[in-house]
Amino acid sequence: MEKLLDRLIEKNRYLTQFGQVANYIPALEKANPEDIGICLIDGKGKQYCSGAYHKKFSIQSISKVIALMVALMDNGEEGVFKRVGMEPTDEPFNSFYKLDLPQGEKPANPMINSGAIVTTSLIKGEGEEKVNRLIYILRKITSNHDITYNEEVFLSEKETGHKNRAIAYLLKNKGLLEGEVEEVLDAYFKQCSIEMDCRDLAKVGWFLANKGRILKSKEQVCSEEIITTILAIMTTCGMYNFSGEYAVRVGIPSKSGVAGGILAAAVNGMGIGVYGPALDQYGNSIAGYGILKDLSKELNLNIFY
Ligand code: DON
Repeated sequence: MEKLLDRLIEKNRYLTQFGQVANYIPALEKANPEDIGICLIDGKGKQYCSGAYHKKFSIQSISKVIALMVALMDNGEEGVFKRVGMEPTDEPFNSFYKLDLPQGEKPANPMINSGAIVTTSLIKGEGEEKVNRLIYILRKITSNHDITYNEEVFLSEKETGHKNRAIAYLLKNKGLLEGEVEEVLDAYFKQCSIEMDCRDLAKVGWFLANKGRILKSKEQVCSEEIITTILAIMTTCGMYNFSGEYAVRVGIPSKSGVAGGILAAAVNGMGIGVYGPALDQYGNSIAGYGILKDLSKELNLNIFY
């Protein structure tokens, strides 16, 4: 398996030159666009890694998966989906123009920024409590008690996140946002700044692929029903307005982030974490996508086959 991962990294390395590191959040610009790493944990819990798998990066939009999980645990399906839809969209991840149309009642889904800001607002807790609950659950899932958010990335996004601020005020105006706007935005920016490496991410993938059980203890920390909902939404919405093509070519429930991470949960109980900060036009890791496409073929992981 390690040889296969080494080979796929070398095969897809050339793609990094066609991508770009995200620069709309200044702190992300420091990443090395040539980095590329992967960790895969098989159904039995055996871990295989290759490349820059030990490099830490902020999880960005990958945090939307965990925020959705906690929001569902706190409010139930009805409480969440009356404020955010479960439909894929052809809009970019940070778009809000449909929200402002007379018929645009609520964000399309919890994987785009507008939907994620709603789910974050639904997580119970005041101020720092929301992000602390996300960090607590991520530490539990990964058995990594060092997981926390990166203050520099948080402040960088807080300073420049004017579009997210506009989205949040629009949501408040429509009665879709619980609590104080700036407090919810701080929680959202902090969750996006949580740092992990590919090994942590693969453990989160394993947790999802094994219906809410933790790799180390096998403890069930979330209902199977919630995980099934999350996996369906990752499949249809997790790669933004590239989710359709990604489903055809990869077919593994996945979620990307603009710092270059991709979280993937395969049907055979396998968890995968990929890192490559050079992004394509949709904001997905360009080499990460290439690797997952090849891996899906090699290991027969496409859920539609
Ligand atoms: O809100 C933002 O724009 C970022 N913190 C997260 C966006 C993101 O990761 C989109 N992913 N591909």
